[in-house]
Amino acid sequence: FAHQALTGKHVLITAGPTREDIDPVRYITNHSSGKMGFSLAEAAAEAGAQVTLVCGPVHLPTPDRVKRVDVTSARDMLAACEAAMPCDVLIAAAAVADYRPEVSAAQKMKKDPNSADGMTLKLIRNPDILATIANRNDRPFSVGFAAETENLLAYATAKLRDKNLDLIVANDVANAAIGFNSDDNAITIIDRQQQQTSFPQTSKGKIARQLIDFIATHINKV
Ligand code: PMT
Repeated sequence: FAHQALTGKHVLITAGPTREDIDPVRYITNHSSGKMGFSLAEAAAEAGAQVTLVCGPVHLPTPDRVKRVDVTSARDMLAACEAAMPCDVLIAAAAVADYRPEVSAAQKMKKDPNSADGMTLKLIRNPDILATIANRNDRPFSVGFAAETENLLAYATAKLRDKNLDLIVANDVANAAIGFNSDDNAITIIDRQQQQTSFPQTSKGKIARQLIDFIATHINKV
């Protein structure tokens, strides 16, 4: 590796999905496996960083020399990230649920046996973990992911600006080979000057090492 390029740096990484409870037996989630974020944690530790990995419910082993914090909901994930601050670099690879049920019922919800009507679930916005940390006074070098099925680079650039990021990693999830729960990825990194750097399809392990190398070069420039 580029010789322990992250020695002395604390790198905070989010990974996996979040899970938003509807009632004690039901929830809203997505297809994130955590593979991308766990690969990044492994690569950052190999580059010499102190790594905190905050992850939603996933089935993956913890990489060596990585401090893992397991959480369930988006609000738990935000609290765990705030507790892990300060850090030098934040990489947000988690697929955080944008909305959660307004009410999480204390008991299992029952259907009405006398009615064929549907039911309406009211959802409210979750906090934005990445934007919250990237807008703190002690903000780290902040790297987001943009998982999109269309207008990839335009939407990614808008997220870079709206969330006050240093880099955004555009991830075309319309292609099943390189998105949620795949073993491979292909990315385009966009910086604040709108410069683009692309890494073609390869394993998430290799993409993670390429991205960590890129970040190490960028922060050492600043
Ligand atoms: O986990 P895998 O199966 O390996 O799949 C990897 C991945 C496709 C999940 C990953 O590469 C990826 O693209 N992660 C971001 C997915 C996403 O939902 O992005 P978004 O466009 O909704 O969010 C933009 C950025 O803001 C992301 O860095 C996200 O972590 C962050 N965010 C979003 C919403 C929120 N409430 N809080 C956040 O921190």
